[in-house]
Amino acid sequence: MASPCVSGRRWSRIVKRTLFLYFLIPMAAAGIGNTNTIVGQKQKLDIQWQLKHLNKLTLLNRSSPDGDIIDCVHIKNQPAFDYSFRWRLQKFCLGPSFHPKGLSFDDVSSKPESLITQLWHLNGRCPEGTIPIRRTKEEDLLRASSVASYGRKKHPQSDTTNKGGFHEHALIVVTGDKYYRTKATINSWKPQIQEQDELSLSKLLILGGVAPKDLNTIEAGWMVCFLKIVFYSCLQKDANQTMGCYNLLCSPGFVQINKEIALGGSLNPLSVYAATQYELNFLVWKQDIKGRGDWWMQVGNKYLMGYWPASLFVSLSESASQFQWGGKVINQQKNRQHTSTQMGSGHFPEEGFSRASYFKNLQIVDGSNILRFPKRSFIVAEKPNCYNVTNFVNYFYYGGPGRNQWRCHI
Ligand SMILES: *[C@@H]1O[C@H](CO)[C@@H](O)[C@H](O)[C@H]1NC(C)=O
Ligand SMILES: *[C@@H]1O[C@H](CO)[C@@H](O)[C@H](O)[C@H]1NC(C)=O
Repeated sequence: MASPCVSGRRWSRIVKRTLFLYFLIPMAAAGIGNTNTIVGQKQKLDIQWQLKHLNKLTLLNRSSPDGDIIDCVHIKNQPAFDYSFRWRLQKFCLGPSFHPKGLSFDDVSSKPESLITQLWHLNGRCPEGTIPIRRTKEEDLLRASSVASYGRKKHPQSDTTNKGGFHEHALIVVTGDKYYRTKATINSWKPQIQEQDELSLSKLLILGGVAPKDLNTIEAGWMVCFLKIVFYSCLQKDANQTMGCYNLLCSPGFVQINKEIALGGSLNPLSVYAATQYELNFLVWKQDIKGRGDWWMQVGNKYLMGYWPASLFVSLSESASQFQWGGKVINQQKNRQHTSTQMGSGHFPEEGFSRASYFKNLQIVDGSNILRFPKRSFIVAEKPNCYNVTNFVNYFYYGGPGRNQWRCHI
């Protein structure tokens, strides 16, 4: 099958233009903080890029009932090309040359009502040849510095300092082999956040290499952002080049081809405690098992989102060395107490179906090139009294209420 990618010169015009922009855009915008970090610069670049160009580049826009504006931008004008030039993006693909069959969700009996969409769809869609980009708002600028602290974590040791908060997880991990694909079905919830600069998210994480030198990670999932649940993706190229995570502008390098789903846009609907559960399928796969390859992502049964180009990575372009699935919270330990920021549904795993949040249909492809459940997985839960995880091989429950009078009162 021919690769649906074009390379080289056809994109040089775009590259030249973005190079021009890159040097023109002032790196020092006032008031965003973290001026010396790459994250800080990058977010300024994101925001500057958006303020200067999105209005001109947008073909039309859609207002979402939640107050967001979604710009439909020509696929060739997406910010990835701005960043990716610096990261030597050499080709642009309109589709994967290979779609893993065994990993489709056709085999999964997803109920029709469990289909998740985005709120802005209520006011129309984006036309062919464009992608939706959530427009940056004032409040994003304020949040930028706290989200930056999420991406800025360089070493696990920094988890033990309060600067930037305590990073707490309830995760399932597989490691010790080479990995090429993963899929999972995640149900959607709206955890409560106590402090503005805290974070709660549910994710799949794909890791390659070793910190600090050639660590690469990509992740995708949902997170709480301004009291909304948004879809996000994230790339960490190495220990120093970390990124904030919550929309396309903050996930430089991800080349989006999908016109239906905006990164950073609200998900709808969300699961209801002891009532209807809504879920979202994620599938992430490396294009070529032999040799270097892009990592593609599909969300839901039909949204082929796009890809992280192999040229952005060192280790991950060959294979992943670890997968993680589960929840993460940043706890700011306000007044020296664990905060009541929730993970997942805000309920402990032992409450089970329709009450606790879950990942199900977990599958991976490893070095033997066989699709299977993640064997020999292990659990990471630093504060099981606050957030715990209970594993059943191909599904697990995770989450918790954070601070509570029964267990988590540290
Ligand atoms: C990260 O930055 C530090 C300080 O600037 C530098 O010493 C180190 O080599 C960098 N690491 C990588 C992987 O680039
Ligand atoms: C956490 O979950 C495990 C099961 O995965 C259970 O054995 C353990 O007791 C739980 N811990 C707490 C503190 O509830």
